[in-house]
Amino acid sequence: GAPIDVDLSPITDGQIINVFWRGKLIFVRKLTEKEVGDMKGVPQGQLIEPAAFDSRVKKGHDQWLVVYGNCTHLGCVPIGHQGNFEGWACPCHGSQFDAVGRVRRGPAPINLPIPPYAFQTDAKIRIG
Ligand code: FES
Repeated sequence: GAPIDVDLSPITDGQIINVFWRGKLIFVRKLTEKEVGDMKGVPQGQLIEPAAFDSRVKKGHDQWLVVYGNCTHLGCVPIGHQGNFEGWACPCHGSQFDAVGRVRRGPAPINLPIPPYAFQTDAKIRIG
């Protein structure tokens, strides 16, 4: 699969868009400033798979999250802006993920993985 470019400029604060790369669903989300602050403040000890905020975003781009869009339990598509952690809730067996895609309630065992991507400009990423 060739890399794909995603124009971030139409995405508004709090919005999640779906893109596909190599046949896989990927969520691109613009976090609100509140979500950024809340996610930075989550104690690592509360996490099923501990991961610092900084490991979930690119340096200098705190408002942008890019994650694979299938639940790490059995692959259903979690619903955005659902659940108790400002993130996603899976309709299949109730897993919940926070605003940076860290699993906060099982049965999903691990965080939503992050695909390879890089910022080309402040308003464009290349996935792949
Ligand atoms: Fe998401 Fe089972 S597939 S909780």
